[in-house]
Parts: sequence; C-alpha cells; structure tokens
Amino acid sequence: MYRILYADKLATNITRMVVEAPRVAKHCEPGQFIIAKTDEVGERIPLTICDFDREAGTITIVFQPVGQSTAIMAELKQGDAFEDFVGPLGRPSDLIDTPIEELKKKNILFIAGGVGTAPVYPQVKWLHQHGITADVIIGAKSKEFVVLEKEFREVCNLYITTDDGSYERKGMVTVCLQDLIEKEGKHYDHCVAIGPMIMMKFVCKMTKEYGIPTIVSMNPIMVDGTGMCGACRVQVGGEVKFACVDGPEFDGHLVDFDQAMQRMKMYKTEEGRAVLKKTEGATFHGGCGNCGGDE
Ligand code: NAD
Ligand code: FES
Repeated sequence: MYRILYADKLATNITRMVVEAPRVAKHCEPGQFIIAKTDEVGERIPLTICDFDREAGTITIVFQPVGQSTAIMAELKQGDAFEDFVGPLGRPSDLIDTPIEELKKKNILFIAGGVGTAPVYPQVKWLHQHGITADVIIGAKSKEFVVLEKEFREVCNLYITTDDGSYERKGMVTVCLQDLIEKEGKHYDHCVAIGPMIMMKFVCKMTKEYGIPTIVSMNPIMVDGTGMCGACRVQVGGEVKFACVDGPEFDGHLVDFDQAMQRMKMYKTEEGRAVLKKTEGATFHGGCGNCGGDE
C-alpha cells in the first residue's frame, strides 16, 4: 500500500497529493508518469509526476476528476492509501539527457495550460537546480484555476495569463506567447508545451511559424498506461507511436493532433472502439489493462 502523506485542493476541482512511494521517488525523472490504482478493482490512472523528493521517498501528483475513478481518487484523504502506485513509466524529458552547457546557451520557454501546469513543474525545477532559469507561461480559465504559482515563482520567470483577464494578463497562452515575442522582444530556442490537446495544437501551430522547436506531452490520450489498450496510439511524423511507451513527450510539430483528438472522442464510446478495432487491427485491442485486451 502507498500512503497519502498529504492532500489538499489547489483549486475547486484540482487535487494535490503527496504519496509515499520510495522506489518510484528514487528512480523517477522529470517527464515520467506513474499509474495509480485506488483498490483491487479500481481503474489504472496514468498521471505525470508533478514533483518528487528522493530523500523523503515521496511523489507529488496533481489531478482533476474526469470520470468515476478519478472522482473516487479525489475523495481520498491524508492517511488513506493507494493499492498500487506503479512507476516511473514512460521516457524522461529529453532535457535531462542534454548536456547542461548546451542547455545554458538556450532560451527555454514552457507553456503550461490548466492542470497541465503540474507536469511542467519538475522540468522547470530541474533546470533551476542546474543553474538555468526558464520562462514559463501559465494559462488558466480564471484566477481560481491558477495553480502552483508560488512554487513556480521560486524557480523561473513566470508569466500568468487568464482567459477572462481576472488575474495578470488577459487571453489564452498563445496571445501571451505572441506578445512576449512581438511586443516584448523575447527570443526562444526551445519550447515545451503541456496542457489540453487543443492548447498544444495551437501552440505548436504558432511555434512552427516562429521556428521554435516544441515538445508536447501526450498524457491526455492515455487510458491504462501499460501499452496494452491501444488508446494512446498517435501519428508522429507519419509513424505510429504509443504515448505511454514511446512518450509521453514528442516533437509537437510532428504530432497529428486532429487525428489524436478524433481518436480520443471515439475511444470513449463502445461504437467508436468497435470502429477503431476494425480500422487499426492488431495495434488496437481495447483492453482494460487488466485483461490484456481481446487479441
Ligand atoms: P483549460 O481548458 O482551462 O485550458 C488551459 C489553458 O489552455 C487556457 O487557459 C488557455 O490559455 C489554453 N488554451 C485552451 N484552449 C486553447 C486554444 N484553443 N488555443 C490556445 N490556448 C488554449 O484546461 P483544463 O481544463 O485545466 O485542462 C484540462 C486538460 O488538461 C485535460 O484535457 C487534461 O487531459 C489536460 N492535461 C494534460 C496534461 C499533459 O500532460 N498534456 C497533463 C494534465 C492535464
Ligand atoms: Fe498506451 Fe493503453 S495507454 S496502450
């Protein structure tokens, strides 16, 4: 069992938990994810790691309930425990493998949208610990949905923008990106965008025009996170990839977002899954992650 040492609400609908998981904490790197399971029959929930403390042996996760399983998970309190907490899974961020001297020469920008702000944090913190201060844009619907502001201010140059203008700048993250470059003379060599699929799509469209290489996290399309269900299949540069095994991070300029969003919608219905099974054959078996699919 994996004890919850601390739990709080970052916003009305956004929960943060610090979980005792020493083996995961010992080996994880920024960009990787875990799979949490509340009990024996609970669904597997893949979540990108928000923070880790190797000495304390803890992992911090941040999530928003989107279905029954995450709603049950959000009700857990300090002192409760997860039945399973598996990880680290997926590939670490490419930044981790890039020589520090090379990173120091770059102006790095992170664009974080909504709950996607949480998985951006460990990468920004890691850079800060290595002497690199990145720029970060956090976008949220309104002031109440801006999360981890204090934590980010300690490790980066932060720009906050809200869709309704209730806090700091007004407009979506793409408006802020455009203003930073065109009105405030900023120049960026590398961008990491993590948030809703639609946000990542439009950020990539813009950074492509500016010629800024951009990495995105395809965590939102994962279902079981084990490489077994086929839900996270995505076309990257014309090749089929699986977000949970080959990612979650990919070159955003090569990701087919329209297809990924369409598949996400289809995967949610039985009818849609039947169509995917027919069209995608062996790489789609719609398993729950427990049974191994219906191959
Ligand atoms: P949201 O809908 O509040 O959007 C957050 C910000 O994204 C907005 O404030 C805006 O600045 C930007 N945005 C949204 N649509 C845009 C568009 N068309 N063009 C440009 N910018 C746009 O976000 P939320 O409700 O907190 O998000 C939940 C989503 O985040 C879920 O879909 C979840 O799957 C996803 N998520 C992604 C990751 C990841 O690893 N990529 C991690 C956690 C959550
Ligand atoms: Fe990747 Fe199921 S989430 S195969």
